[in-house]
Amino acid sequence: MMQLKTWALALTLGRVVEATILQNGQVRETNFPETKISDLSAYDFNTYDADAAEISYKGRWDSKKVSYWSAPGFVFGFSGDTVAITFGKDTVNGTLIGYRISGMDWIFTNVTVGGTHLLVTPETLGIGETYPVNPQRFEMRVSNWGYGVQIDKVHVRTGESLIKIPPYNRTIEFIGDSLSAGDFQSYEGLSSFAYGVGEGMGETEYYVTAFPGICVADQECWGNPRGQVHQWFYSSDTSWRATEIWGDNPEPWDFEKMETIPDIVVINLGTNDNNVANNVSAEAYVDAYKKLIQGVHGKYPKAQVVVMVVPLLSNLNPEP
Ligand SMILES: *[C@@H]1O[C@H](CO)[C@@H](O)[C@H](O)[C@H]1NC(C)=O
Ligand SMILES: *[C@@H]1O[C@H](CO)[C@@H](O)[C@H](O)[C@H]1NC(C)=O
Ligand SMILES: *[C@@H]1O[C@H](CO)[C@@H](O)[C@H](O)[C@H]1NC(C)=O
Ligand SMILES: *[C@@H]1O[C@H](CO)[C@@H](O)[C@H](O)[C@H]1NC(C)=O
Repeated sequence: MMQLKTWALALTLGRVVEATILQNGQVRETNFPETKISDLSAYDFNTYDADAAEISYKGRWDSKKVSYWSAPGFVFGFSGDTVAITFGKDTVNGTLIGYRISGMDWIFTNVTVGGTHLLVTPETLGIGETYPVNPQRFEMRVSNWGYGVQIDKVHVRTGESLIKIPPYNRTIEFIGDSLSAGDFQSYEGLSSFAYGVGEGMGETEYYVTAFPGICVADQECWGNPRGQVHQWFYSSDTSWRATEIWGDNPEPWDFEKMETIPDIVVINLGTNDNNVANNVSAEAYVDAYKKLIQGVHGKYPKAQVVVMVVPLLSNLNPEP
């Protein structure tokens, strides 16, 4: 319950979320390696724009290539042994990202607004493993659910190139709140249960349209101005930064342009509607839940929708 209160407070305060996170009983390390480079001219780069056709965006990004919700990311193939990324002005300074090559372990680093970060180098573990077979697969995910990045440029070495990697043939989407977004988990998005299930399925695309504190009913809940029955239809989430970027006129999510259409949609909502602090009536809750499911069927007619019941729901003693 202490934790619930803490994030409710953090959401209300907006920007500053400071907490000690324990990981296997030890304080989580947050001194991630510095990847920012200051002198771009010292490198011989072949540079691509953020909207290059070779880059496959995963999860929700707006038309300015700003990321939202939990664990959004992108994938591309690259030749050579170097990848750097320049982050745009709508990046939240210090956002934690995870990235990896060819499905190996995630490497974490904080990225900076306007900074160019050198993520893959000849020293990156495993970079030579597939030699002489090209390309390697590069994947990046934004790991902080409340923060986000804007992609400006992608760089490889001169003479090298990006290569389009086709998506996997199966897709799962999670629609949820803190439990799916990875709130309180060590790396947030990349340690959420939604990520774990999506990744664990293997060769499956996964999208996590989840935000802590959100209700399904369309009303203010724990600082989220709208509920999922409304917000799921938009690119941006209910964060303060989405409001800074889009005001109260966010971009509708372009379902037509999705790289893959989910085969399975898992909805895990209701924890926040059930909290007396949010005062959602049973009628409003059921009505919103039904409308969201109808909306999902409308956008993805062939998808199976799985509605999760939070086992502890009836035991959650709601505090104000
Ligand atoms: C972003 O963070 C970096 C390192 O943490 C710092 O050097 C830089 O001044 C910050 N930039 C802005 C615009 O706050
Ligand atoms: C890097 O990210 C971690 C995890 O979100 C955070 O605790 C830490 O303060 C960040 N560091 C900087 C310099 O922003
Ligand atoms: C995905 O589907 C396409 C077309 O049916 C097929 O050619 C391809 O082998 C499949 N890929 C995987 C990884 O199963
Ligand atoms: C909760 O909602 C009901 C009706 O929607 C209203 O009468 C009541 O005053 C609300 N309670 C709080 C604490 O906001």
